[in-house]
Amino acid sequence: MDFENLIYEVSDRIAVITVNRPEKLNALNDVTIRELGAAFVEVSRDDGVHAVILTGAGDKAFVAGADIKELVSLDAPGAKLTSLRGQGVMGLIDGLNKPVIAAINGFALGGGFELALCCHMRVASETAKLGLPEVGLGIIPGYGGTQRLSRIVGKGRAIELVLTGRQMDMEEAVLTGLVNRVVPPADLMENAFILARTILGNGPVAVRNALESVRRGLEGTLREGLLIEADLFGLTAGSEDMKEGMTAFLEKRKADFKGK
Ligand code: COA
Repeated sequence: MDFENLIYEVSDRIAVITVNRPEKLNALNDVTIRELGAAFVEVSRDDGVHAVILTGAGDKAFVAGADIKELVSLDAPGAKLTSLRGQGVMGLIDGLNKPVIAAINGFALGGGFELALCCHMRVASETAKLGLPEVGLGIIPGYGGTQRLSRIVGKGRAIELVLTGRQMDMEEAVLTGLVNRVVPPADLMENAFILARTILGNGPVAVRNALESVRRGLEGTLREGLLIEADLFGLTAGSEDMKEGMTAFLEKRKADFKGK
């Protein structure tokens, strides 16, 4: 697919989506948000794509936030629409039934941090910096940051990060569970691919249903989550993949999953 501000490549069942405005540190302008939405619709539609790696072009930034040049002229109704539209794109990524890995190669600030937060997993370069600097600009995070951050790091730390707007280094990001692993900059993409390939070696139906169970379970109570898990456990057990996975184990051979 051709985009103005994204590079979209698929190889070996993995789509790599690169936000490509390095001269503006990959800031999310209107076009880029729209294109991200279109790219993830394509991912959900394409049966040949089983996982996604999302990253930023250049060695400085993943995404340095929403485009401040565009935000500055917004009025209150326009800002609400901008927030809802951004939340829609982030929700599309979060709700995708294929694993999405953010490969954070530098600054992930404001909308860029929110973009990383809506991904299912985060791998980061040692040089990355995370933060929600919005309050310093006189606004608040509007692409899901006030909601998703607290669900990962807890209320107190999320409030501190949102209200101070301070940047976090990768030592803190690992300790708080914000990133799954931190690697030298040169090894970032390879590590993201290793993670994606490890997942893709497992039963596709099981991967899809396990992802859905964790995601939907977090939206409600424990009781609701357990029911969702039981439903999906039942659904998965009816799959050909389940028979193949268990038969392969008993026959001491590698499973040949068909995704059915
Ligand atoms: N929106 C629009 N443009 C942005 C941007 C953003 N969020 N972040 C960076 N840019 C642009 C800069 O305006 C600059 O463009 P110019 O060369 O036309 O002047 C270019 O990207 C390079 O950024 P610069 O600030 O010169 O790089 P730096 O290394 O000195 O600083 C940052 C890097 C990330 C610390 C700094 O760019 C920054 O603070 N960006 C804004 C982060 C932010 O507040 N994000 C939340 C927005 S809601």
